[in-house]
Amino acid sequence: MSKLENLKAELKLLNAEYAKIKTLPPAERGPFGRELNAKKQRLLAAIARAEADAESAEVAPIDISAPAAPNQPFPTLPRGTKHPLMTELDHIIDIYSRMGFDVMESGQLDDEFHMFDSLNFPEGHPARDGYDTFRTAENFIPPAHTSTMQHRALKRYQHRLAEGGQIAVVIPGRVFRNEDADATHEHTFYQCEGVLVSRTATMSDMFGVLKHFFEAYYGESLKIKTQPGYFPFTEPSAELLIEKPASLAGKGDGWLEMLGCGMIHPNVLKTAGIDPTLYRGYAWGGGIDRLVMLKYQLDDIRYFESAKLDFLEAF
Ligand code: DAH
Repeated sequence: MSKLENLKAELKLLNAEYAKIKTLPPAERGPFGRELNAKKQRLLAAIARAEADAESAEVAPIDISAPAAPNQPFPTLPRGTKHPLMTELDHIIDIYSRMGFDVMESGQLDDEFHMFDSLNFPEGHPARDGYDTFRTAENFIPPAHTSTMQHRALKRYQHRLAEGGQIAVVIPGRVFRNEDADATHEHTFYQCEGVLVSRTATMSDMFGVLKHFFEAYYGESLKIKTQPGYFPFTEPSAELLIEKPASLAGKGDGWLEMLGCGMIHPNVLKTAGIDPTLYRGYAWGGGIDRLVMLKYQLDDIRYFESAKLDFLEAF
């Protein structure tokens, strides 16, 4: 039995002694009880000390004699790698930052207002169906595109217009669609949105910005072309295509659709409190995964969300 257990056993016996008091003649009861109480106080104090000792005894002492070898190289441990999409995203943001764009990040849950109303989707309009994503039980929406951030970008930076400047923001983010996955379609992917508003913005300014971006990203000069598109939040709307980069086995005859774009619809500006008779803007949005797949000649978009280590470690 440990010291602590002995003391506790003693306390038990002592407590039993109290029952004797009522068997004693009245004159002896007082002194007997006082003596028991005094003993009990001493025992309780001893138990408290023994408990404290037992607790500190369990802590292994620090080995102050452990060898120190500050000049030895650290052992090499297996390390995680940055996800290739995040590495490319840094590169993309870097290009736009050098062109003067601010950067915002989109969230992974949004609401009906930012997903549809602020983007001039009329209620019940069939264009909403094209952006049919998932919904939570509380009616939040994992966004189908980064355009859900346009309204916030316009609000956050509109003081720049009053100061005589312009709004210029890019917004990368993760987006979700109710899509059957195959080599070129994934339910979860990344997009980058761009928004620019000034007194003089034009569609051709935007094409210049985007041409410059793609050339910087692929490191070579590229031809671009556009074709008409339809988006409720832009008027007119277009799709932008780039010539397949020569370094990626392009022969100057393959065109790749990279993003949707257009002049921001006056209703979108108005909803954000910007007067469309004074200011005009352009916006674009396109997939990041496609951009990266092209750069690295990847043939299956599903690798990105697959958590396949051999794929991730190849970067
Ligand atoms: N959000 C659109 C999509 O994912 C792409 C897009 C089109 C973004 C036109 C824009 C825009 O900002 O102006 O299909």
